[in-house]
Amino acid sequence: MSQSSATSQTTPTPSDPHPKRTHTCGELRSADAGSSVVLKGWVDTWRNLGGLIFVDLRDRYGVTQVVFSTQYDEATYNQAVALRNEYVISVQGDVAIRENKNPRMPTGDIEVRATSLAILNLSDELPFQVSVQEEKSAVANEDMRLRYRYLDLRRPALQNNLLLRHRTYQSTRSYFDEHNFVEVETPVLMKSTPEGARDYLVPSRVHEGKFYALPQSPQTYKQILMVAGMDRYFQIVKCFRDEDLRADRQPEFTQIDVEMTFATEELVYELTEGLMARVWKDVHDVDVALPLPRITYAEAIKHFGSDKPDLRFGMEIKDVSELVKDSGFRLFDNTVANDGAVLAIVVEGEGNRGRGAMDKLDKNVVRKKIGAGGLIYFKRPSSGEPAISSVKSDILPQSVVDNVLEHTGTKAGDLVLVLAGESPKVFEQMGELRLHMGRETDAVTKAIAAGRNPWQFLWVTEFPLLEWDEDADRFFAKHHPFTSPHPEDLETLESDPAGTRARAYDLVLNGTELGGGSIRIHSREVQQRMFAALGIDEAEAEQRFGFLLDAFRYGAPPHGGIALGLDRLVMLLTGADSLRDVIAFPKTQRAQELMVMSPDDVDDDQLRELHIALRDA
Ligand code: AMO
Repeated sequence: MSQSSATSQTTPTPSDPHPKRTHTCGELRSADAGSSVVLKGWVDTWRNLGGLIFVDLRDRYGVTQVVFSTQYDEATYNQAVALRNEYVISVQGDVAIRENKNPRMPTGDIEVRATSLAILNLSDELPFQVSVQEEKSAVANEDMRLRYRYLDLRRPALQNNLLLRHRTYQSTRSYFDEHNFVEVETPVLMKSTPEGARDYLVPSRVHEGKFYALPQSPQTYKQILMVAGMDRYFQIVKCFRDEDLRADRQPEFTQIDVEMTFATEELVYELTEGLMARVWKDVHDVDVALPLPRITYAEAIKHFGSDKPDLRFGMEIKDVSELVKDSGFRLFDNTVANDGAVLAIVVEGEGNRGRGAMDKLDKNVVRKKIGAGGLIYFKRPSSGEPAISSVKSDILPQSVVDNVLEHTGTKAGDLVLVLAGESPKVFEQMGELRLHMGRETDAVTKAIAAGRNPWQFLWVTEFPLLEWDEDADRFFAKHHPFTSPHPEDLETLESDPAGTRARAYDLVLNGTELGGGSIRIHSREVQQRMFAALGIDEAEAEQRFGFLLDAFRYGAPPHGGIALGLDRLVMLLTGADSLRDVIAFPKTQRAQELMVMSPDDVDDDQLRELHIALRDA
């Protein structure tokens, strides 16, 4: 349907003869037949059959077929000839049962026979189609969609994402309200908080040379609110982090931020689990079985090579170091002798893969993408013939291979993938290979079809407190510097920093980190020891966090909490692939908002006022 010259001949009606809408476009059913109605919305599609014009009229609530005919009202029909896609119209008409019912549309039993039409506004030719009909054909490229976001957002898929997001806010707010939590807003212009990303800075006009930082999270403020006696705090809050972007990361994103006085891990788990159950019930009418499973960080790495394991499918990592350590195969023997590990995963039903496919997996995935030394594999043909090893039997004895096959519980037709390397790196590499094989074999879809619960929540507990950074040659806080060390490890914070566990936990859903939190330090002395472990000297600690250390002098109660990524939560709830599909006006991978085109240049005057001079690159 191309736009015709009718566009230029039509002008919108100056005033709407039927200003009051009686129904939305998703509302009418056969029981309404015979009533006179007024609908308003966008022309989703139109078909002119000569003497008869069909318009699918769309609004947020749905689509209704409107029919213009010389039989119903000739003047109205003549006006309707000019209608084109995305014109905004107001229609008065009579509801009638359709001759050809459309069972795929909730309003598909009826049509509205138009007796009066007002064209409220016109639309230029669209840069891309937004019609309900186009929905499946994955429309225009994303940059175009983001540039014309108001058109993109007319698509029901995106509207539904925003509606579901709205539902999630409402569920969250009522849940916390019922549990005595108080929503408190914290400043957006604040100072740098150490969440591990770069800050977005805002120059001060009044204080020359000084900068506000946009919060990476309200972490210190929510702790201060506990010192202030608020007892239970939550906030749905924007956070800002200047970091490398991925599909599940945006530079500005929203957290459901929570803090509780006298918190224990158990209390945080219980309240968070209650929220998940509430949201899933409200949004999807799904009952989440509580309590949610838990796994320690150490176990998660050991079995899944990840601190955010995707439990929707199996393929658990098996450590076969003990089985292969004296095999005579130098790679295995040396790896184990040097405290490394030899790990295996079983990929069910893939034992008949050809040599070419295996070579590709080794080269493109194992070496290039994952960065491991190389892939060793054993194939068990489904014919029941002996296993085929990628290492010749005079180098790696068949008996060792058979031992591994037995220990890992393989069946005829299965494939065993083996990596050998330094620990813990090889666990992470195997974790990536597990995810890759899961995707390649469609393991999640198959497991769900076989009855696995599609919502695999998991608490990961007992994270390490500190993480060594090779480049910076120092420890960083794995979570953040306010996280309490595990009481059993407190004495060894200085002597064995790497071995110190934290009272920190993450909530994982389907392999995505949904949230993270901790029981906090509330003692000035422990907080100072933590800063020292991070190489922050007293003067710097005072300058950056003096307010918190001061607050800890005046009866700071024990406290703890969590923050959940709301965008990620909604992304998982909607099944979207990217955070961009659940945020109304998201940023691109290059941190730009393409509709308003930000970031942008500013006037020299503005810069001068802010005491800023731009340097030549
Ligand atoms: P953390 O840094 O783990 O903890 O963040 C909590 C959750 O926020 C989400 N998230 C993001 N979502 C989208 N884009 C991003 N760039 C992004 N970064 C984080 C994740 C993550 O799990 N103050 C602590 C919380 C606490 O200790 O209570 C904090 O911010 O879902």
